Amino acid sequence: MFKWTVLAAVAVFVLIQAVPFGWSHSNPPVTANAPWPSAEAESLARAACYDCHSNETDWPIYSYVAPMSWLVRRDVDAGRDELNFSAWDRDSDANDAAHEIEDGTMPPRRYTLLHPDARLSDEEEAELIAALETMHDAR
Ligand code: HEC
Repeated sequence: MFKWTVLAAVAVFVLIQAVPFGWSHSNPPVTANAPWPSAEAESLARAACYDCHSNETDWPIYSYVAPMSWLVRRDVDAGRDELNFSAWDRDSDANDAAHEIEDGTMPPRRYTLLHPDARLSDEEEAELIAALETMHDAR
């Protein structure tokens, strides 16, 4: 009985790899990188936001394996849709981004659990929020 359960689980795991949704690991061209006022602010955003909100996603190894690949793909698609630091000429609500950090909604907890370098200290949060507000006012 146990053997069949394990075999069935392995078979399901192998079969779901055939679902194409998780296959794409696209990084479209950067049309206009966000005009960060400082290199520090940019590196904080790169660590905490760029994997989902830019065209410079660093696709992790688990993003090649279903079902994680589906979750990562969904995050990147939805993230780029809402805010894309690589297409600053197209959509760019820096104020909204500042609010999401302030609320603690972004970066998502499911992400910081796996990416400790994306966890922002209070000072780093304040620095990133200030940079986003500067970028908002500059528009
Ligand atoms: C793990 C991927 C991921 C990371 C990292 C991430 N986000 Fe998001 N973000 C999303 C997704 C997905 C959405 C779409 C809404 C949703 O499904 O939660 C979103 C939505 C947003 C929105 C739009 C919210 C709204 O409803 O108006 C803003 C603004 C935002 N993120 C800013 C940021 C900022 C700033 C950072 C870095 C500090 C960040 N995000 C990090 C995945 C991410």
